[in-house]
Amino acid sequence: MKVLVFGGSFDPVHKGHVALFKRALKVVAPDVAHIVPAYHSPFKAKSPTPFRLRMTMLKQAFKGAGKNIIFDDYELKQGGKTYTYQLVQYLKKRYNNPEIFLLVGTDCLNDLHNWKNPSYIFENAVVVAGKRKGYDENPATFPHIFLPGFFPKLSSSRVRAHILACGDIPDTVPSSIAPTIRKNKLYGLDVHDWLKSHLKPKRYLHSKNVAEMAAAFSDIYNINVESAVKAGILHDAGKGMEASELISFCKEHHVKVPFFEDICRMEPQLLHSFVSRWLAKHQFGIHDKDILDAIAEHTLGSLHMSTLSKMLFVADISSKDRKYKDAFVIRTLALQDLDKALRYAANRKLLFTIDSQKWLCPLGIDLWNHLIKHEN
Ligand SMILES: [Fe+2]
Ligand SMILES: [Fe+2]
Repeated sequence: MKVLVFGGSFDPVHKGHVALFKRALKVVAPDVAHIVPAYHSPFKAKSPTPFRLRMTMLKQAFKGAGKNIIFDDYELKQGGKTYTYQLVQYLKKRYNNPEIFLLVGTDCLNDLHNWKNPSYIFENAVVVAGKRKGYDENPATFPHIFLPGFFPKLSSSRVRAHILACGDIPDTVPSSIAPTIRKNKLYGLDVHDWLKSHLKPKRYLHSKNVAEMAAAFSDIYNINVESAVKAGILHDAGKGMEASELISFCKEHHVKVPFFEDICRMEPQLLHSFVSRWLAKHQFGIHDKDILDAIAEHTLGSLHMSTLSKMLFVADISSKDRKYKDAFVIRTLALQDLDKALRYAANRKLLFTIDSQKWLCPLGIDLWNHLIKHEN
């Protein structure tokens, strides 16, 4: 008896998963196939998508894919994180020593040795993997089968980042799961509803553009794409408030703002970065310090900007809705040298403020001096 098993977070399932599984069904021709979504503790922020919804989407995505497919809630029943070797143990017991075929993506293949109890897995299962174009054939020392053909380079984190940045569902997921994502407002669709009702259309569009640009920079500067998108989409969340509202909001919620009195008197709109940080944390449950700091620093910078913070500062001033000439220059610079782009952006911001006969916040001046002092 042959059993094919396909496990993963599937958060959400995407077309790459479907293609891989369908090909494996053909090649392995199993008697039964198990699709086993991973259990995630609801108390962990890492994957807040409930098991039930990930399972629903799997059933929608694989509907009609073949016979004898079991959507297995084994991990949910176990009530916690289970290891792959335990899954193999369970299938051996359930089917009385079947031939087990373990379906994995190419990325996993290089990492299998780091899994818990790998020798047990290799002794009791054959690994089945898909290849991506350009992938160097793996001289794996354990039993494995490469599926014929190539598979697209898709990932669930990219899908999540796309939905959070754009507010729409990419065509990299099966269309059958889109209604579930929409109905349950998954992957940040709830954030988009909030932004649409709190920001003017132009500001909402700008937020999406900044998120998109931050995502593009994240590839170059090796920053987690979801972090970049979270910072981008929420950076102006407080921008819908009038000056007086911003001031009251900061007082009421004890939002920490350097030079608060001066800013309130001279340029209260500058408060929006700090209010957006507060909203990201308390309204949207973001606790990652890098993301929160990047949001707070996106207008005036700081002396301790992380790469994410620099990316957001630059993306904000050069997003594609910014039509002035410098936006293009900054965008182009940022694709090559983030620090140069930051310096150029800080310079333009200061000059623009002076030209507008406006007050220069000491934070902006400090940033400029800091950048010049550390110029290389
Ligand atoms: Fe802003
Ligand atoms: Fe902005």
